[in-house]
Amino acid sequence: MTNIIYTKNITICDNETIASQRVAHFIANEIKSKQANGLPITLGLATGNTPKMVYEQLVRMHKNEGLSFKNVISFNLDEYYPLEPSHPLSYHQFMDTHLFGQVDILPENVHIPNGTWQKEQLAQCCEDYDKKILDCGGIDIQLLGIGRNGHIGFNEPGSAFDSPTRLIDLHSLTRNDAAADFEGLEKVPLQAVTMGIQSITQAKKIILLALGSRKADIIQKAFQEEVSPEIPATFLRTLSQVAFVLDKEAAALIAEPLGNNSLTSKY
Ligand code: PGA
Repeated sequence: MTNIIYTKNITICDNETIASQRVAHFIANEIKSKQANGLPITLGLATGNTPKMVYEQLVRMHKNEGLSFKNVISFNLDEYYPLEPSHPLSYHQFMDTHLFGQVDILPENVHIPNGTWQKEQLAQCCEDYDKKILDCGGIDIQLLGIGRNGHIGFNEPGSAFDSPTRLIDLHSLTRNDAAADFEGLEKVPLQAVTMGIQSITQAKKIILLALGSRKADIIQKAFQEEVSPEIPATFLRTLSQVAFVLDKEAAALIAEPLGNNSLTSKY
C-alpha cells in the first residue's frame, strides 16, 4: 500500500474501498511512526458516512495487526446542538460505535464538542476547545469529509477562513441530508458546534475524503469555483498540506481537466 503523495494534491482511486484503505493506512503509518519515537499524535476526526470505512479499517488493524491508539489524542470536528451525548445520533455515539469503543484510545485523550454545553458558557467552551488543540501542539492529521454545500466540519457557507470553534446555524441542505437519519426534518437540530476553519486549516496535514457520485458536483465546485467563504472547501485549495482523496465517482466531473494535467498546475 503506497502512501498519499503530498506533492501531488489529488489521488483518485478506483472505488471507495481503495480510497478509504489508503487513508486508513496513511493514518496508521503516522500513528506508528510517532509511536516509534515515543511521541503522541493529534488527530482531527470527522463523522458522517464518508469516514466509516476508514474507521472500519483502523479497527481491523487494531484487532488483527496490533495497531495501538494509546498515543492518540483526538479532536472531533463537530456535534449537533443541542443534543445529549447519549442520543443515538450524536457524534459522541457515532465515534464510540465506529472507532473509540473498539480500540485502545485513552478516554481522557478524546475531545468532542458537547451538545449540552450551556448557552451562557458556550463561547468559553468553544475558546477552550481551540486552546486545547493548541496546547496539544496543533492537529497532526485532520480528516475531513465535504458537505454537498461545500461545508467542512459544520462550517457552512459564509464561514470565514479565520473562524474559530463556535455555534453555527445549520444550512437547509445539511439539515435535509440528515433528515432521513433523524426520521424527519423537524427532528434535525437547528444548530451545531463546529471546530472553526482556523483550527482545521492550521493542521499539519489535511486529508479531504470524498466518495460517491453525490459528491461529484461539489468536488467540481471545490476545485473550480472562486475561493470564497460561500464554498468553505475552496479554502483548502490555497493550502499546500492538503491531500484530496477521491473515488472515481466523486472525481467524475474533474476527471477531464486532471487528465490534461491542468488541474494541479492551475491550483
Ligand atoms: P457525509 O457528510 O460523509 O455523511 O456525506 C460529509 C459532511 O457533511 O462533511
